[in-house]
Amino acid sequence: MPGGIGWYRKHFTISPKDKGQRFYIEFDGVYMNSTVFVNGKELGTRPYGFISFSYDITDALNFSGDNVVAVRVDNHYQPNCRWYSGSGIYRHTYLLKTNPTHVTQWGTYVTAQLNDNMKRADIAVEVQVEGAQKATKVRAIFLDEFGKKVGKSQATLAKSNHKNEQGKTVSTFKANLTLSNPIIWSIEHPALYKVVTEVLNGSKVVDSYETTFGVRTFKFDAQKGFSLNGKSMKINGVCQHHDLGCLGAAINEDALHRQLRILKDMGCNGIRCSHNPPAPELLAMCDSMGFIVMDEAFDMWHRSKTKYDYAHYFDQWFERDLTDFVLRDRNHPSILMWSTGNEVLEQWSSNDGTELSIEQANLILNFGHDASTLANGNEKSVNSLLAERLSDIVRQLDATRPITAGCNEPNPNNHLFKSNAFDIIGYNYHNGNVADVPKNFPGKAFIFTESNSSLATRGFYVMPSDSIIESPKEWWRPYTDPTFMCSAYDNQRASWGNLQEETWDLIKHNDFVTGQYIWTGWDYIGEPTPYGFPARSSYFGIIDLAGFPKDTYYFYQSEWTDKPTLHLFPHWNWIEGQTVDLWCYYNQADEVELFVNGKSKGTRKKGEHTFHVMWRVPFEPGEVRVVARKNGEEVRSQTIHTAGQPHHLRLTTDKTHIAANGTSLAFVTVEVVDKDGNLCPHADTQIFFEVEGGATIAGVDNGCQTSMERFKDNKRKAFHGKCLVVLQSTKTASTIRLTAKSYDLLTATLSIISEK
Ligand code: GAL
Repeated sequence: MPGGIGWYRKHFTISPKDKGQRFYIEFDGVYMNSTVFVNGKELGTRPYGFISFSYDITDALNFSGDNVVAVRVDNHYQPNCRWYSGSGIYRHTYLLKTNPTHVTQWGTYVTAQLNDNMKRADIAVEVQVEGAQKATKVRAIFLDEFGKKVGKSQATLAKSNHKNEQGKTVSTFKANLTLSNPIIWSIEHPALYKVVTEVLNGSKVVDSYETTFGVRTFKFDAQKGFSLNGKSMKINGVCQHHDLGCLGAAINEDALHRQLRILKDMGCNGIRCSHNPPAPELLAMCDSMGFIVMDEAFDMWHRSKTKYDYAHYFDQWFERDLTDFVLRDRNHPSILMWSTGNEVLEQWSSNDGTELSIEQANLILNFGHDASTLANGNEKSVNSLLAERLSDIVRQLDATRPITAGCNEPNPNNHLFKSNAFDIIGYNYHNGNVADVPKNFPGKAFIFTESNSSLATRGFYVMPSDSIIESPKEWWRPYTDPTFMCSAYDNQRASWGNLQEETWDLIKHNDFVTGQYIWTGWDYIGEPTPYGFPARSSYFGIIDLAGFPKDTYYFYQSEWTDKPTLHLFPHWNWIEGQTVDLWCYYNQADEVELFVNGKSKGTRKKGEHTFHVMWRVPFEPGEVRVVARKNGEEVRSQTIHTAGQPHHLRLTTDKTHIAANGTSLAFVTVEVVDKDGNLCPHADTQIFFEVEGGATIAGVDNGCQTSMERFKDNKRKAFHGKCLVVLQSTKTASTIRLTAKSYDLLTATLSIISEK
């Protein structure tokens, strides 16, 4: 995407009564190269577009008139990222007022150690206080998940203190608390505690700072795999980039929550923040929804993957950025591991220049390294030392979590593996090398930091479904197909990747494999492998860009949840006589039987290593029905009818009530259906939207990876029968009415209440 230079300016006044207080401006993320000025005074520059940062602006303020904060963002050097980054201020920004004696930004560190068979939690809180006086005291008040006070502790002043960037003294206070029978944080019950640290000067509370934490224990074991609170389990995670589909990269809590909710419903229990520090709201949601997070710092170190990326700033900034990343995130109970990088080119030694095109980088990342680029004997190369340096920084700030990195060179002579940097061996793909992990990395636990890269377009099927489409077949060839689509049977993948079922089979049957983070949970903007333009968003997602599940979603649901699942696909609108492969994912049943227009086509059972069943049948219009049985009894069934002509539109919303606050969203699914309400699977009808009441259209989408329609519009074509319209509330409470119209079909309306 074209970038540019942007300026933001905001005027504000500060009450003269607040003279003597301190003021900060905090940014959760500005992409990229931001420089901040207050009243013309330059406060600093931060190149990394994914990092959070703040400035003390007190000395630049005018207490008796107008103030202006100006932010210059320079994102004009392109490309600088391998996916859609967004541009400018895309996360929240805060103005903070504090007493001169106050807890510093990210100034608390809470650790919770479970003891006595999980009957006792020993909590330690470290608090950094700026401007402490002789009479300054700190106390910690602990609250449980219901907000009930469960303990209080007076902090003691530690001997050590240091000076911050402004030359101000920062003192450390420490408090402890023992909790008996703590409520333990888990995937199923993500119980959260809060500690409120109050800073007092004499008897007056001058600052109060809240930190959320959780009590849990976990283990990555080289033989037994992963366990949380003593319970063995697999990490069934996905990688996520930060964009929110048609809403772009700008943070919106409702949109982010929807992404996580749909993943959670699939049985997903882990998020890898690929490949950069996420929005803080993502971590807060993972804490409260119960996800196991791999928090990742960088997609590159010193060597670039795109011409103008962060590698140019790495040498100067990595210590600061990595430090800030850990300081910001280390209290989140959901984070169970740190990753210092993804597929960094320092895994290999090379004399190449550091500038690569996106295509070259992809090739280098995934293929073709000869032994001369690996480490020799016990030599510790510069690259190994760099890996160690990064881990040391992380460990110094947080020794409670293991460190890994998403490698893609599985050889133990990978320069990163040769270092002592990692507690967990993590690599991407390379399923064929996994059997050797225990031999190659004795004593080390293993995780698929990234897996699969299988490809699918929702609602598009290439048969025969049991033949695998590698796209491209050979990595050095471009791949073309006039459809610009990928098959939604689990039968298409990138040549370096694997099918969804293949990797799960490997993980399920190997105890030592702790789990995986699948590439990817949702489709994202950018990286439309295997195609080039006009494809503009990814095919990797289990869920499409609009948030509609592709079929493999139900494969995971059948394996990863206790929810009764029965999913027959594809649709039943083919050419008379055409041979069609019907697949079914199911669970909690012994067998499934298929009926075409009432005639049985046979009973099928999954095997130990197959997770779907299949029938190959000639198409005849009518209905297909699948019946699942347990102990000979029917436990559930599903019927798909051949859809007739498109007749009307159907609207369904994920929420009937939203807050009238200007940011809340309702996601409305629009379906083209026949007169009996069957989804028309080939419909690409142009649909127009009108909104009355307190809402605007924030975005429209249909999950098609090649659509050149605008994401911000009042119209969208259906894609395989569906599209999405996102309504955003205004600040006026009202009944919102959405009307969807098209040229030939009956209009549909839907009402949503927005309330204060
Ligand atoms: C990996 C990489 C990801 C993404 C993926 C696509 O090698 O880590 O960022 O590019 O390939 O298959």
